Amino acid sequence: MSPPNPPFETRTLRYGPAAIAEAAALIAAGEPVAVPTETVYGLAADATESAAVARIYAAKGRPSFNPLIVHVADLATAARIAIVDERARALAAAFWPGPLTLVLPLRADAGVASLVTAGLDTIALRVPAHRAMRALLEATGKPLAAPSANASNRISPTRAEHVLATLGGRIPLVIDDGPTRAGLESTIVKDGAILRPGPITAADIERARSHEGESPESRTPIFEPLGSRLRGSTEGVTAPGQLPTHYAPSKPLRLNAEAADPDEWLIGFGPVAGDATLSASGDLVEAAARLFDALHAADAAPKPRIAIAPIPEDGIGAAINDRLRRAAHR
Ligand code: TXA
Ligand code: MG
Repeated sequence: MSPPNPPFETRTLRYGPAAIAEAAALIAAGEPVAVPTETVYGLAADATESAAVARIYAAKGRPSFNPLIVHVADLATAARIAIVDERARALAAAFWPGPLTLVLPLRADAGVASLVTAGLDTIALRVPAHRAMRALLEATGKPLAAPSANASNRISPTRAEHVLATLGGRIPLVIDDGPTRAGLESTIVKDGAILRPGPITAADIERARSHEGESPESRTPIFEPLGSRLRGSTEGVTAPGQLPTHYAPSKPLRLNAEAADPDEWLIGFGPVAGDATLSASGDLVEAAARLFDALHAADAAPKPRIAIAPIPEDGIGAAINDRLRRAAHR
């Protein structure tokens, strides 16, 4: 397998102004950087640059695109990216900065790369508490997409050494600030329901709601049954992988097309030109960066069907093909 990004000499820098300045420069140049959060080490990149987000996937060797969590400095920034309703605002007030991720409706003008949300119209946001991630958010002035900083199918890293063990040579920099506090990925909440259990428990969420001074009658009821369902078991928790969270075009999609049929809008790659191309030069990272925009454009095009050129299975190409196969077999 030929890695689509050049191998790096991975540097490790202790947390401090020099490390943050170097990390911010790398992120501005479109590179992903490993940085601790209070949960696990994350692999952070500029969420507004699709090519930078594609490099996260390339470095992790992820065989599929899942929507990523976007880290922001504060609630005001979150509210510019997503619609934060009153219930979400109450949770944010109680737990941000901290290990809570909220899945919220994405604003049309958010400026976030479609690869971040894997084409969805919702986005997972969190305001982290860790000094290193907070300093990086401030230094870059950007929302930062960051999944856990481990190679695909490996355990989430709670120390810089864990990051190096699976991503050494694949990323330029790890900021080392010792072991993380929570050691477990953030709790993910959507519409009041826990999608992924984490450091903030159902009981914590219930308590936050009761602290709002509402009478039990006037409370939004969802947390009560959820709390009792969760007590002592994970029953009732929907694992994110089981959710229908994957974007699919509304039209039939034909894979491995060398040319378009008359009723097809063709997405090209390399030598196959098409109505649009993922990458004329056959660059798989560029193709990943354009994938969801191309699918949305194809969906909006006047032709009733979509066709897409063959994509090599190398490197991040495997993730592109995984997503295309899901989109084709709905
Ligand atoms: O603690 C954490 O949350 C760590 C640190 C680095 O902050 N980050 C992390 O990110 O775990 P990531 O990108 O690996 O988590 C993505 C999870 C996936 O399970 C995904 O399905 C879910 O978030 N997710 C993201 N966007 C979503 C959406 N729009 N709807 C539903 N689930 C979403
Ligand atoms: Mg992970």
